[in-house]
Amino acid sequence: MEKILETPRLLFREMHMGDVENLMMIFSDPIAMKFYPEVKNEEETIRWIVWTLNNYRRFGVGMWVVENKITGDFLGQCGLVPQKVDERVEMEIGYLFVKKEWGKGYATEAAKACRDYGLYTLRVEKMVSLIDPQNNSSLKVATRIGMSREKIIKKRGRDLFLYVLTRKECDAL
Ligand SMILES: CC(C)(COP(=O)(O)OP(=O)(O)OC[C@H]1O[C@@H](n2cnc3c(N)ncnc32)[C@H](O)[C@@H]1OP(=O)(O)O)[C@@H](O)C(=O)NCCC(=O)NCCS
Repeated sequence: MEKILETPRLLFREMHMGDVENLMMIFSDPIAMKFYPEVKNEEETIRWIVWTLNNYRRFGVGMWVVENKITGDFLGQCGLVPQKVDERVEMEIGYLFVKKEWGKGYATEAAKACRDYGLYTLRVEKMVSLIDPQNNSSLKVATRIGMSREKIIKKRGRDLFLYVLTRKECDAL
């Protein structure tokens, strides 16, 4: 399978239909899904994969599977997804990891690789992340990769923090 990105500890690859069981480790966990509307069952997980494959086709990006480079273990997903923000389409960095893999710095390492891929390979002007104000772990990841809070936006009836990092700001980090 084609390698998308690589970091010192992680490998990124495209998601495929064989990932249902892997993704269910995250989607069926109420703690991991605390800031999402609800946990996902198998059918909804298949729909997530179909949506992701569509993103690959339409935009050339999407959520990718992140594996441990040495063991090949499934760690989570991280990637780039076009997202409507105030009627403009922005490039969002998304990250969701299996709970037993939290607290090792994997999400920050993965999100950084996506940030650089978006800003310097794809030459997108800025990256964003939409984050629940209570989701401290996620706010910390965004801050660690250099993003800062721009404002609060409403999305599907919820107030979310819009975190932003421009290429210019990233150059200066
Ligand atoms: C958001 C999420 C990915 C963050 O995961 P995380 O493991 O806390 O984040 P990181 O990978 O950056 O790990 C950071 C922690 O690992 C620690 N760490 C341990 N070893 C490390 C290493 N070698 N390098 C870096 N950090 C390390 C850091 O000190 C830090 O600890 P702290 O949180 O107590 O400060 C995770 O909580 C998650 O998947 N949540 C569910 C999905 C979700 O809400 N996604 C975000 C939607 S906006």
